Amino acid sequence: MKSALIDAYGIPEQVVRCVDRHDPGDPLEGEAVIDVLAFPINPADIWFCKGQYRLRPPLPAVPGAECVGRVVAVGPGVTSPRVGDLVINLQRENWCARRRVAASDLVAIDPQTDVAQAAMLRINPATALLLLTDLRRLEPGDWVIQNTANSGVGRWVTVLARRMGIRSVNVVRRQSLFKDLYERGADVCVLAGSELAARVRAETDNAPIGLGLDAVGGEGSAQLASCLADDSMLCHYGSATGLDPQLPRQELMVRGLTVTGFMLGRFLARRSPEDVHELYQGLARMLRNPVTHVPVQKIYPIEAIRDAVRHAQQGERGGKILVTPNGDI
Ligand SMILES: NC(=O)c1ccc[n+]([C@@H]2O[C@H](COP(=O)([O-])OP(=O)(O)OC[C@H]3O[C@@H](n4cnc5c(N)ncnc54)[C@H](OP(=O)(O)O)[C@@H]3O)[C@@H](O)[C@H]2O)c1
Repeated sequence: MKSALIDAYGIPEQVVRCVDRHDPGDPLEGEAVIDVLAFPINPADIWFCKGQYRLRPPLPAVPGAECVGRVVAVGPGVTSPRVGDLVINLQRENWCARRRVAASDLVAIDPQTDVAQAAMLRINPATALLLLTDLRRLEPGDWVIQNTANSGVGRWVTVLARRMGIRSVNVVRRQSLFKDLYERGADVCVLAGSELAARVRAETDNAPIGLGLDAVGGEGSAQLASCLADDSMLCHYGSATGLDPQLPRQELMVRGLTVTGFMLGRFLARRSPEDVHELYQGLARMLRNPVTHVPVQKIYPIEAIRDAVRHAQQGERGGKILVTPNGDI
């Protein structure tokens, strides 16, 4: 079977390659085998290939934090999922054509779910949801602000905030993104840059913003912090710049901001496996509404993994980059 592989950590499009590997074989007791239908290339996968992710396994290694697949076989004792089910895999190493995994790590989702959207279900929608529910108590009418609002996470934050009655300020780098974000339920869209706080105050009529979601780092974190109300919270959950968050100490000392961080695995680990399955099944049901859909810029075959990885690192993309290891979806 085809698989992507890295045998060194370094420049992602140079260290990743497509290889032929042994088929994983028949499922043992408690296991299932899936054909991987599609996977996205996420920023965390790029950090993984660079050797700068929190997980740095011995090499060679197969990247890939998420995928959608179809169950092709189940081992003894497995009642769920069933052969033919559409599933997402909660385990890693998904950049390949076929996986053999513990059946309990597969979440069966509505078979009608859009396959491309399901490929992106495991990481970003759950991150957006837990950023809104698990950091601090938010009531309908409260305000949040986020940068990289056009990212996969950001688009889900916008949609989920609207559903929860929370008002969102969405910071992006291009005005052309505003229309899409307003259609998803954004209350305010603004361009990143200097004087952000003054522009946000004007657009929100000075509303107190209680939570800031930062995936930029560096000066971007300070800009977002400057938009927040006193005694509010800034959560750093990603770094598009690769920089640590930087903010003036006055934000902490004088204005009482709390700075925290988020990692999906850490927050999911606080829930039971049943709750985690339910969470994903609920998010999959939301995919019936196209307003949740995240645009896909291009789909590559796995043989072109280097091109896909290169493309995924380009800024100002029109959507996510997907790879389909078993042909068209
Ligand atoms: N902590 C967690 O558990 C967790 C989970 C999921 C995701 N994340 C993080 O969340 C972030 C978004 O992930 P995603 O998959 O949703 O991303 P994505 O869809 O690939 O989008 C990338 C985003 O980053 C922006 N960007 C790229 N370079 C930038 C720069 N130099 N300055 C400012 N913005 C820049 C892009 O804006 P343009 O379109 O303007 O280029 C785009 O909005 C990533 O940092 C990822 O690592 C964290």
